[in-house]
Amino acid sequence: MNKRWTLEDIHWNRFDRAAVSPRLLEVVKTAALVEANSGDYVSYLKNVFPDDRTFHREVEVWGLEERQHGEALGRWAELADPSFSFAESLALFQKLYALPVQSDSSVRGSQPGELIARCVVETGTSTFYSAIRDAAKEPVLAEIADNIATDEFLHYQLFKRYYRRYEAASSLSLVERLRIAVGRVNEAEDEELGYAYFAANVVPKTPDAHFDADFYGQEYYRRAMGLYRERHINTATRMIMRAACLKSHGRLGDIASKLFWSFVQWKVGRLERHAA
Ligand SMILES: [Fe+2]
Ligand SMILES: [Fe+2]
Repeated sequence: MNKRWTLEDIHWNRFDRAAVSPRLLEVVKTAALVEANSGDYVSYLKNVFPDDRTFHREVEVWGLEERQHGEALGRWAELADPSFSFAESLALFQKLYALPVQSDSSVRGSQPGELIARCVVETGTSTFYSAIRDAAKEPVLAEIADNIATDEFLHYQLFKRYYRRYEAASSLSLVERLRIAVGRVNEAEDEELGYAYFAANVVPKTPDAHFDADFYGQEYYRRAMGLYRERHINTATRMIMRAACLKSHGRLGDIASKLFWSFVQWKVGRLERHAA
């Protein structure tokens, strides 16, 4: 198994400095750090599924792809802002924030539960990079985001495939599936993103700044979630519903996606007004 693309496939010579959005650049710097770190989940996932060699092989490729997402975004951010050092910001981020991956069993309580949570994460990333691709005027960023969005969608399918295998052994109730899926969606604002935003955007300009989890988490949230359009939220809602084994088409899917979109608009609007 190999990665679908490499950094050499990107058309870097098409880079157009005049088309770089400063706000999108802040989001990309943050995402680069989180992606580069997420390869560390490989050992955690192997611990959670200790006897599944096939899964280990697939998860190793998955980890390489996640790291490559970080490298591609980091390289683009360095092109867009030559004062930015991906390596320095990543080192700082890793010093500030250690991934909670030292566990032998799933923090979600069971193997199928872990796979549902992974599907929710990949839903978040695939729709997030689709939103970046659609918002980016800079062609190289649009190309990178498109490649990553496709990878993330395939990651979703990978974990969904394993979920189907593992649910037979210990199936979860609907309440349990929803608890895990919604719980993971709520973590979208978690500390990790606040730390990454801080390390990528704040410390390089203000080295003695103090970290505030709520404040920087929200600073990132309004920039990142502000990129989403209704179609991205619609896709995300239906992918999350399928991850929890609910029918995603029909009235329930329509209502859930309208509610989710209203919530995102309300929350981004509130944070923007607060910041202004
Ligand atoms: Fe990724
Ligand atoms: Fe992914």
